[in-house]
Order: sequence, then structure tokens, then C-alpha cells
Amino acid sequence: MPPNAVITGWGMYAPQRILTNQDLARMVDTSDEWIVTRTGIRERRIAADDETTTTLSVYAARDALAVAGLDPTELDLVIVGTCSPDYPLPATGVLVARDLGATRAAGFDLQAACSGFLFALATGSSFIRSGMYRNVLVLGVEVLSRFLDWHDRGTCVLFGDGAGAVILSASDQPGGLLGLELFSDGTGAEGIIVPAGGSACPASPQTSAEGGHFIHMSGADVYRYATRQLAESTLAALRSAGLGVDDIDQFVYHQANLRIIKSVGKQLQIPDEKVFVNIEKYGNTSAASVPMALVEAVASGRIKQGDRLLMAAFGAGYTAGAAVVEWTADPLQAFRAPGAQTRLGKPRSAGAATLGETAADEEAALPEVAAAG
Ligand code: ACO
Repeated sequence: MPPNAVITGWGMYAPQRILTNQDLARMVDTSDEWIVTRTGIRERRIAADDETTTTLSVYAARDALAVAGLDPTELDLVIVGTCSPDYPLPATGVLVARDLGATRAAGFDLQAACSGFLFALATGSSFIRSGMYRNVLVLGVEVLSRFLDWHDRGTCVLFGDGAGAVILSASDQPGGLLGLELFSDGTGAEGIIVPAGGSACPASPQTSAEGGHFIHMSGADVYRYATRQLAESTLAALRSAGLGVDDIDQFVYHQANLRIIKSVGKQLQIPDEKVFVNIEKYGNTSAASVPMALVEAVASGRIKQGDRLLMAAFGAGYTAGAAVVEWTADPLQAFRAPGAQTRLGKPRSAGAATLGETAADEEAALPEVAAAG
């Protein structure tokens, strides 16, 4: 029997700088009311100038390792799902392994836009189920704030920065990944695109002047496609697990737009209490969105040992991914791990053993920094 790939550790990191809808209304022609009613977003996190996709990854990964009780040297592989890497090359996964001290691990990046974490989860699980590796760090991380045109109200109000991580470990016990569906349709390539900076349109002063290095999006087209595809991918993953909608305890969808999540819930007749939402705090963090929502769902007590989860995302490409996972870990492990900061996305820092510190204390400690834009 091939080993199962079960989630043994989880962590997230959200940069401390908060950009509210009110801040955005001072930067572009928009309003808190428009953003909240059209998207459900109230604020998002923006990486500090000295933060990168690698540094965000390392914070989330250290928490995930602490929860799993693993030393970085026990990692066999680091996969970073991202479309906002530190550099076109080298791969962020290599830098993350270096900075973690994961000296035995191979590292690479996986690009499937907002679906990146689901594709990375599928890839990591396959390495474990094949018997090749025992411990794989899977990350979804973005610093999309560096790829936004802060004059384009159609995109800059939607996205935020963040990181989410899980450790997948080989296990003889039942559980882990039960069903999977990966999807792509390149006919939608123009729907969400960074048109310049690649081989099709190399970087030049002209591409820079024309804003070719920023995200361009046909919002309404993406919206229509996403609502249909997320529902279809959900059903396909359930079919591959031999399960139905009613067999799932918690649905963790990509947090792109509250209306998209609600539309999928309505199509599939999922009760609201089974759908986890945190978009109001983080906006669309692309590949980081599902793992950050997963970490917060576990921390909030919405996910218990033995529960079945469905995680699904949709993104540029178009791409979509959906996975059915049986949760086998003790959710309280995150609170027992040294540091115990993973539930609020605060970075673990040297000497900051905050066991016993209350969530309210940590929340209060988060400084609110209005963005300069
Ligand atoms: N503030 C105020 N008005 C705005 C804003 C804004 N920030 N943005 C657009 N508008 C205006 C438009 O100009 C338009 O005005 P008009 O009617 O005078 O032309 C009006 O609001 C309606 O615009 P729509 O685009 O039709 O608005 P919609 O209700 O579709 O919402 C949105 C736009 C939020 C972008 C939505 O289409 C959406 O969420 N799309 C999906 C995005 C997504 O899921 N992306 C996921 C993948 S991203 C990735 O993979 C990296």
C-alpha cells in the first residue's frame, strides 16, 4: 500500500501593514461601500518594503514546522505555489529552503496563479504517495502588491499579500488527500494577465511606461467563469473521492470575491455555516488565500480531527483546483507548538515564546499602519 499524505503542520503569515478601503478611497475613485458590496473585502495586508515572497514564506513555514514538530533538515522538498516570486530566477523554493536551513530539501516554484496552492498540494501528495519523499513543505505565497497598478481601481482594491503553509507527511494511517481535480483552460489566458516581462514581451522602458508589468484583468469575464468552474471543480473532486456535498464538514474556497463564494454555495446548496470566509481581512491573496483560510478555519475551531474538507481555487490561466482532504491532526497542536503564533499570522521571532498570551492581546498588538500608496 502506498503511504497516505497527511497534513501534520500548518502556518500562515500576514504582513502587519493594513490597507483599508478608506485608504484606497483616498488613492483612486472608489468607496468602502462599493468594495464591500461588490467583493466583501474591508482591508488587506501589504508587505513592508523589506519583505519579499521568500521572507513571508519563511515565517509561515517556521510555524508549520513547529506545529508538525519537525526540524527543517527533515524536509525532503519545498514547493512554493506563487505567481509573484522574488525573481524570475532563481526559484523562490530554493531561497526558502536556504533560509529555513532545510539543507536536504529540493525546492522549486509552481505557477498556477490563484490555484497554485491546490496544484502544489497535489504535487507534494504525489511525491509522498509514490514513496519518494516523506516530508514536503507546501506553500501558497504572494506579494501581489508589487504587481498592481495603484491607479487602476478595477484591480488594486482586490488583492493583498500573505503566506500559508502546510507540511505533508507520509503516514500508514488513513486520511489526507481523498480526492482531487486539477483543471486548466488556456483560452482564458487574456482574462487575467501580466502582459510584459516574459519571452512574449520582454521588459523594456516601453513596457514599463505602458504598465505592462502590472496585473490586467477583465473582471466580469473572470467572475462568470470562476462561479461556474469552482462549482464544477468541487463536484469533480467529490466524485473522485466517492463523496457528495453533504459528506463535507467544511468548504475552504479561494477568497477572491464573497459574491463568487456565495454563488458557488448556492449552486451546490451548501449551508453557510460550512463555508469558511475571511476575505474581509485579507482580500484576494491569490495562491496564499486557501492555505491562509485553512489555518484560520482550524484555529477558529471550525475543523476537527476526522473532518472532511473541500478546498478549491480558481485563477489566471484559467486554472482551477479542488481537493478533498480528511483532517487527521489535532487542531490544538498549533497552540501547543513553541511560539503558538500561527493562529494570527504574526511572525515567530527569537525569544517570543507567547504561549499563554491571549488572542485578544495579540490582536491588540497588531499596529494599524495606513498605506502611503
Ligand atoms: N470602485 C468603484 N467602481 C468601480 C471599481 C471600484 N474599485 N471597479 C470598477 N468599478 C466600476 C466599473 O468601472 C463599472 O462602472 P461602469 O458601469 O460605469 O462602467 C462598475 O463599477 C461595474 O464594474 P464591473 O466590472 O461590472 O463590476 P463587477 O460587479 O463585475 O465587480 C469585480 C468587479 C469585483 C472585479 C468582479 O468582476 C470580480 O470579482 N471578478 C473576479 C475577479 C477574480 O475572481 N479574480 C480571481 C483570479 S485572480 C488571479 O488568479 C491572480
